[in-house]
Amino acid sequence: MASNYTNEYKGEDAAIYAKHGIEGTLLLAYREFPRLFQQYVDDTNVALDYGCGSGRSTRYLADMGFQVEGVDINLAMLSEAKQLQVGSASGVRYTQIDSGSITQRKSKNDLVFSTLVFLEFPTLKEMEKVVADIYRVAKFNGTVIILTVSDEFYQHDWVSVNTDLPENKDVKSGDPVYIELKEVNNLRLKDYYWTDEDYELVFKKCGFSVVELVKPMATGEEGIAWLDETKCSPYSIYVLKKTIALESAHDLAQERGYQPILDRGFFKEIDKSEKVIPRDQLSADFSGERAEWSTIELLMQAGQKWPFHKLFSTEKVVHQEGCDMTFHLVYPDGKYKKVYLGEEHDDAVKELIIEPGTWFAEEVDTKGGYSIIQATTYPGFNPDDTMELMHRYQFSEKAMSEMDAQTLKKFGVVSQDVADCSSSGAGNSERGRMVFCRR
Ligand SMILES: C[S@@+](CC[C@H](N)C(=O)[O-])C[C@H]1O[C@@H](n2cnc3c(N)ncnc32)[C@H](O)[C@@H]1O
Repeated sequence: MASNYTNEYKGEDAAIYAKHGIEGTLLLAYREFPRLFQQYVDDTNVALDYGCGSGRSTRYLADMGFQVEGVDINLAMLSEAKQLQVGSASGVRYTQIDSGSITQRKSKNDLVFSTLVFLEFPTLKEMEKVVADIYRVAKFNGTVIILTVSDEFYQHDWVSVNTDLPENKDVKSGDPVYIELKEVNNLRLKDYYWTDEDYELVFKKCGFSVVELVKPMATGEEGIAWLDETKCSPYSIYVLKKTIALESAHDLAQERGYQPILDRGFFKEIDKSEKVIPRDQLSADFSGERAEWSTIELLMQAGQKWPFHKLFSTEKVVHQEGCDMTFHLVYPDGKYKKVYLGEEHDDAVKELIIEPGTWFAEEVDTKGGYSIIQATTYPGFNPDDTMELMHRYQFSEKAMSEMDAQTLKKFGVVSQDVADCSSSGAGNSERGRMVFCRR
């Protein structure tokens, strides 16, 4: 058994590892990242570096324009990272965590990045715990990029890494394997051997789609005296997406029995009170008796929107799954507010009560994915009890000035010249029937 090989980075080891740059064999992996970011990461905004160590990968993300938090279990490594961060890019934070217990509460990361960490997990169970936690903090439709070594790594010779140890022969999944980092005093490290099949199984089990697997190799024209880098790949780079494999939200709607509503989304009535409120106990706004309450689920996919409307009833909306749904609210006193329903945005809320008379519009303002909310109205929903906004004069100047130009345009508030009207779809519970009466 190889002695003095560890993955604990104790004593001098953390400081030695911190001297390791993006060089030698590792260059082959890092030169792939700019293309992967461009192709798969929608917004170069918020990133998490899982297993950031002494911050080499974290500083790289910051240099690429991300606002990044590096997390690691090892305090000595984090301390090196913090020292090296001084005077470097801003927007970088480092946090110590327990394995698979990221302290972030929200699913807010456009990118979760993890380089040379997965080879340190001693069991697949541990890997699964970490991947499930990464799934939790990735934004819906967010991207995860994991760099690990290929399953050929321990049987070949590399410019930067010596793997030529008897213990590395004939290894199978879960066996310990040993390496020496040539560029940093032959630092001796212990890893665990996992195959591409092992990784893929865990990623899929945790709900990720594997959208690309990159096996970087050298061309021989890099001006480096490569060893086996031109013959086979030292690394596997997994690109994962937190999304479900759907042709479109249409498939999901069909699977769950939702009905389409114009081009706005899909809905299904979930439940309704048996108790009925008689007409004479309701305000004059209501044209007849109503159930005490009723609940629908509404599914909208990226790019869909529901125009400004208001209800005579009170509505409670609760996020169920998928990405955040954006609500634009104009209150009876004329004030405007934008609310994210879900858990991706820092200020997102899980539920929202919309009082009668509040104009509201909702949208899924993302490049991909879908959002499902549950909406309960008190009294129960009837299309007669709703009005769509048809003219900008119905909004106060204050609301108009508080809404950004893009929102005003997107919801047609600036250009429509049609009148306010209520529905003529009495008795039909399909929400799409409650709209469109132009003068
Ligand atoms: C080889 S270093 C890589 C560091 C950095 N990502 C880089 O590329 O320079 C591996 C790091 O993963 C961390 N690590 C290992 N197991 C971990 C776990 N279960 N959770 C979080 N970090 C872990 C180690 O403490 C170490 O800092």
